[in-house]
Amino acid sequence: MFSLRLDDTAELRPLEPWRAAEFAAAVDRAREHLRPWIPFASRVVDDDSARQLLQRFADKQAEDAGAMYGIWVDGSLRGGTLFRTFDTQTGVCEIGVWLDPTVEGRGLIQRAVTHMIDHAVRARGMKRVEWLCAPGNARSKAAAARLGMTHEGTLRSSFVIEGRRLDSEVWSVLADEWLSRA
Ligand SMILES: CC(C)(COP(=O)(O)OP(=O)(O)OC[C@H]1O[C@@H](n2cnc3c(N)ncnc32)[C@H](O)[C@@H]1OP(=O)(O)O)[C@@H](O)C(=O)NCCC(=O)NCCS
Repeated sequence: MFSLRLDDTAELRPLEPWRAAEFAAAVDRAREHLRPWIPFASRVVDDDSARQLLQRFADKQAEDAGAMYGIWVDGSLRGGTLFRTFDTQTGVCEIGVWLDPTVEGRGLIQRAVTHMIDHAVRARGMKRVEWLCAPGNARSKAAAARLGMTHEGTLRSSFVIEGRRLDSEVWSVLADEWLSRA
């Protein structure tokens, strides 16, 4: 119902539980691309598991503690962004992202996340926006750097994906930095 145009063919919209079948199909198409980096790529395997994840985020949104968005390209769900956490007490939130490989390299994440950070900082008073990624995830690191985030350090052995323990790089942008650049 509500959407934000990202370019001539792409839109950002809320990704709600009623879209579970569409989400399951999108994850299935991109699974091999996402699996090394995104935990839900292994967990979302059918409409029920897709609905469970989307419902968890709908519940978070109702609690003002997170949100899930999708990116539709030519009407097909091809990626998404999320506030994985959104803590209004501390003013800290974390953004996550994913794209189908067919729509990488167009700046869709740059535009969608710029909008999210603007909203988080200007409308919601967030003071710190975080981005966590594995050190080997070059495209994710490049996206964080392009958004003007700073690499603050690495949490060693902090993340489990497909039974492997990985380090997490912590990137962030602070509200003052974001507003002074705008
Ligand atoms: C991480 C991920 C979302 C990044 O996608 P991406 O397409 O590289 O990021 P963007 O949509 O911001 O696009 C940036 C690219 O578009 C290009 N671009 C074109 N027009 C652009 C514009 N107007 N603005 C910004 N970039 C633009 C940039 O040059 C860049 O291309 P390059 O990497 O070849 O230099 C994607 O690689 C992915 O889904 N990976 C698997 C899942 C994953 O790792 N998620 C993150 C977990 S931490």
